[in-house]
Amino acid sequence: MIDMSPFSSVVPLLLFVLFSAVNPTVRSSSAPGNQGINSTFLLSADTLEGCPRSCGNLSFNYPFGIGSGCFRNPDFNLTCDNTAQPPRLFLQGGTTEVVDDIDPITYGTPYFMSVDVDFSQVISMRPGANTYNMSWHAPGRSFALDYAFLNITGCDFDIYLIDQDRNSGVRLCTVTCPDKEITEKVARQNCNGTGCCTIELDTRLSAFQFKFVHHGKGELEARTNKSSLWDRINITTVDASLLWSIVDQPTCASTRDNRTNYACISSYSKCYDNPLTPDLGYLCGCDSGYSGNPYVRNGCQRDNGYIPAEQKANCSRSCGNISVPFPFGLEEGCFARKLFQLNCTNASSSSLQFDDEHQVAYINISEGLVGIRYTSWYEQLEFKVYVPKQPDLYVGSGESSSVKWAVANLTCLEAKQNYSGYACVSINSTCLGVNSTDGYIGYRCQCLPGFQGNPYVQNGCEEKYREKFRFLRTPVQT
Ligand SMILES: *[C@@H]1O[C@H](CO)[C@@H](O)[C@H](O)[C@H]1NC(C)=O
Ligand SMILES: *[C@@H]1O[C@H](CO)[C@@H](O)[C@H](O)[C@H]1NC(C)=O
Ligand SMILES: *[C@@H]1O[C@H](CO)[C@@H](O)[C@H](O)[C@H]1NC(C)=O
Ligand SMILES: *[C@@H]1O[C@H](CO)[C@@H](O)[C@H](O)[C@H]1NC(C)=O
Ligand SMILES: *[C@@H]1O[C@H](CO)[C@@H](O)[C@H](O)[C@H]1NC(C)=O
Ligand SMILES: *[C@@H]1O[C@H](CO)[C@@H](O)[C@H](O)[C@H]1NC(C)=O
Ligand SMILES: *[C@@H]1O[C@H](CO)[C@@H](O)[C@H](O)[C@H]1NC(C)=O
Ligand SMILES: *[C@@H]1O[C@H](CO)[C@@H](O)[C@H](O)[C@H]1NC(C)=O
Ligand SMILES: *[C@@H]1O[C@H](CO)[C@@H](O)[C@H](O)[C@H]1NC(C)=O
Ligand SMILES: *[C@@H]1O[C@H](CO)[C@@H](O)[C@H](O)[C@H]1NC(C)=O
Ligand SMILES: *[C@@H]1O[C@H](CO)[C@@H](O)[C@H](O)[C@H]1NC(C)=O
Ligand SMILES: *[C@@H]1O[C@H](CO)[C@@H](O)[C@H](O)[C@H]1NC(C)=O
Repeated sequence: MIDMSPFSSVVPLLLFVLFSAVNPTVRSSSAPGNQGINSTFLLSADTLEGCPRSCGNLSFNYPFGIGSGCFRNPDFNLTCDNTAQPPRLFLQGGTTEVVDDIDPITYGTPYFMSVDVDFSQVISMRPGANTYNMSWHAPGRSFALDYAFLNITGCDFDIYLIDQDRNSGVRLCTVTCPDKEITEKVARQNCNGTGCCTIELDTRLSAFQFKFVHHGKGELEARTNKSSLWDRINITTVDASLLWSIVDQPTCASTRDNRTNYACISSYSKCYDNPLTPDLGYLCGCDSGYSGNPYVRNGCQRDNGYIPAEQKANCSRSCGNISVPFPFGLEEGCFARKLFQLNCTNASSSSLQFDDEHQVAYINISEGLVGIRYTSWYEQLEFKVYVPKQPDLYVGSGESSSVKWAVANLTCLEAKQNYSGYACVSINSTCLGVNSTDGYIGYRCQCLPGFQGNPYVQNGCEEKYREKFRFLRTPVQT
């Protein structure tokens, strides 16, 4: 018999908030390694330049950091274990592992900020012991658990969620023993209560504790020929995420009364209340038209995501019979920005895709259009290609199967000033704005009248000689 309590209905009763028990906040200006350093100065891009930005293949950014002066306060103090292969990144305290990039970079309103984590644990069963504990604490006041899916393998015990304040527990599930030839791996795949059970925590928690109560009489059975299920409780994080925010002040309103350590220090940034954890701090975001890291000086910038040249030689420029001119491209190094990466999923049928839902029918450089084949009718209502960390530079209209595009969310004037990022690199080309019904989107390029070709590549705009020549010769021939 498996008893899986409907978890979400019991958790609210069990919420035990340990905010005061966790580490007190210390500000970077008063943190041990930073004494005497002007905190405003600390946060500028220059002084953060020497700070590590990655650990293995994971990247992170301020307010998170490693090393003195590189993080906002001890909550954001990361540790990289370089002795592990691949290297492993941990939040403060060393028990909660970071498993994906930590990106404070905002594009539009920051509704929440999260870190994907792992807090797996293995508990060895001991002869004579029949209860075991596992507890987890948020690695600082700046964090709260958003959700966690855990697969717990083992054999013959009940799992309780403990309410420390009431000294009581609620049973989450019972794990029975499978046939002895079932391995931990197989039990984990099914995870149906026999040798394994799945637990979902989906309430904002700053800590939790599990208690495992073994059914045996405190004795472990003779284990010859039995799998590790009989030896240990293996708590594996399948998927878990923490929310973080700036907790020096509870809300944006209170930051207006007290500017000490105000986190949104970039120009063109502002404070946002955290809708998922009201009164538990605030978040920073860049103003409309700006993106980047609002937690560092000059972190919020106008769109600088366009790279006006191929970084790779011999880029393929077609997919079946569809031509794929720059700034679009198929391979890494062949497109001007991630938003223009297309996927040639089948060259023989000319299947060119933005993503699973949107097929490209053609690319028209001179009119600044792409043709779209929708794979289902409802996508036609609103064309949206979502690429992380990229502004939305496509303008789809309901009925039409062609979509306008811009190359960067800049005015022509701004684009020309940022010369190294200016897209209209061909001589005899010019810049023009792209509007949607809601307003300005960005700019694109065009060959000057009398010229044709690709304004996005060197010498791409060519004089319409041949056409002129043909036009002049035609009357002579007739
Ligand atoms: C901190 O350093 C910045 C940049 O050098 C300077 O503009 C600011 O006046 C300094 N603030 C204090 C309180 O010393
Ligand atoms: C940051 O973490 C490292 C490694 O855990 C520790 O040695 C150091 O003291 C911490 N620094 C602060 C300011 O908490
Ligand atoms: C890092 O590398 C591992 C495999 O080594 C991969 O599973 C993971 O997705 C990578 N993470 C990122 C953020 O690239
Ligand atoms: C488990 O935690 C409780 C307190 O929550 C404690 O009384 C008990 O001794 C712990 N048991 C083990 C085996 O650590
Ligand atoms: C549950 O999983 C076990 C072992 O993984 C398997 O032997 C058993 O058939 C599964 N039971 C059901 C009802 O799926
Ligand atoms: C966790 O359990 C689910 C079934 O509840 C299973 O589908 C999944 O493969 C398991 N994942 C891991 C990593 O154990
Ligand atoms: C616990 O389970 C994981 C798979 O989720 C496995 O990689 C690990 O080796 C197991 N640990 C022990 C000690 O059995
Ligand atoms: C302002 O907020 C800081 C916390 O960031 C606190 O230490 C300080 O006492 C507050 N100052 C006033 C005047 O309330
Ligand atoms: C482009 O920038 C303008 C400000 O110049 C802003 O109002 C607009 O929302 C931005 N559009 C996009 C798609 O980011
Ligand atoms: C391209 O499409 C294939 C097949 O759908 C997919 O496996 C692959 O991940 C896609 N590549 C990119 C870069 O989107
Ligand atoms: C085209 O570019 C060439 C070389 O810069 C220049 O001499 C010519 O005047 C340009 N033509 C027009 C119509 O601007
Ligand atoms: C875009 O809109 C602006 C303001 O409404 C207008 O001045 C401009 O001519 C429009 N540009 C294009 C290419 O339609």
